[in-house]
Amino acid sequence: MSKIVPFDKSLKDGRRISIRHANVADAANHLKCIEACLRSGEGLVRLFDEWDRTEREHREAIRKALYSPREIIILAINERTIIGGLDFRSSKRSRLAHTGDFGMAIRKEWRGIGVGSILLSTLMDWAESNPDIEKVSLRVLASNAPAIALYKKLGFVEEGRLLREVKYENGLYSDELIMARFVDGSTAAGA
Ligand SMILES: CC(C)(COP(=O)(O)OP(=O)(O)OC[C@H]1O[C@@H](n2cnc3c(N)ncnc32)[C@H](O)[C@@H]1OP(=O)(O)O)[C@@H](O)C(=O)NCCC(=O)NCCS
Repeated sequence: MSKIVPFDKSLKDGRRISIRHANVADAANHLKCIEACLRSGEGLVRLFDEWDRTEREHREAIRKALYSPREIIILAINERTIIGGLDFRSSKRSRLAHTGDFGMAIRKEWRGIGVGSILLSTLMDWAESNPDIEKVSLRVLASNAPAIALYKKLGFVEEGRLLREVKYENGLYSDELIMARFVDGSTAAGA
């Protein structure tokens, strides 16, 4: 089980947060954070009503991540409240096992002050120290400017665009971008 050493960090507004990997005991607290982010509705494809994971199921998901060398759930915590999280997982298929993708979300009232940057930098440090992981990918709505800015800032590049991948309830569409970064910082894939 190679996870991360917990640490504290100051945000742009001076408040402090702790960063660590999720433990099974975090399940209820983490679910509250996920639900708050889904309720805000911004930046995510999944609807609030489409998230129906129970605390027990979430405990199992955290346990699985804890014991997989190629998965990690990283949390940002302020005074015992989980204010944001990032969930990275890798494929079970051996030919894809050197890659993985992640999702992340921060509670609305904590956005724009550096939490996302800290979580994603922590993931990349972990990936760098993980001999199995060579490439980190993600999918993001083409309209999600804050998220795209964060990913570009940390060296992710656009690898593809899925046209009209998302259709909203009002009939409008959005493209999705596939972005990725090689852990060693290279930009071209080897043959
Ligand atoms: C996207 C998200 C994770 C970013 O996290 P965050 O904590 O707000 O990000 P940070 O404060 O670290 O900002 C990172 C960079 O994004 C950019 N950024 C932040 N807020 C922005 C905004 N409102 N508009 C444009 N760019 C913005 C800045 O370049 C910033 O870097 P800088 O502060 O060094 O200039 C967060 O906004 C969020 O949870 N959004 C809703 C869910 C979501 O979209 N998840 C991602 C799905 S792919």
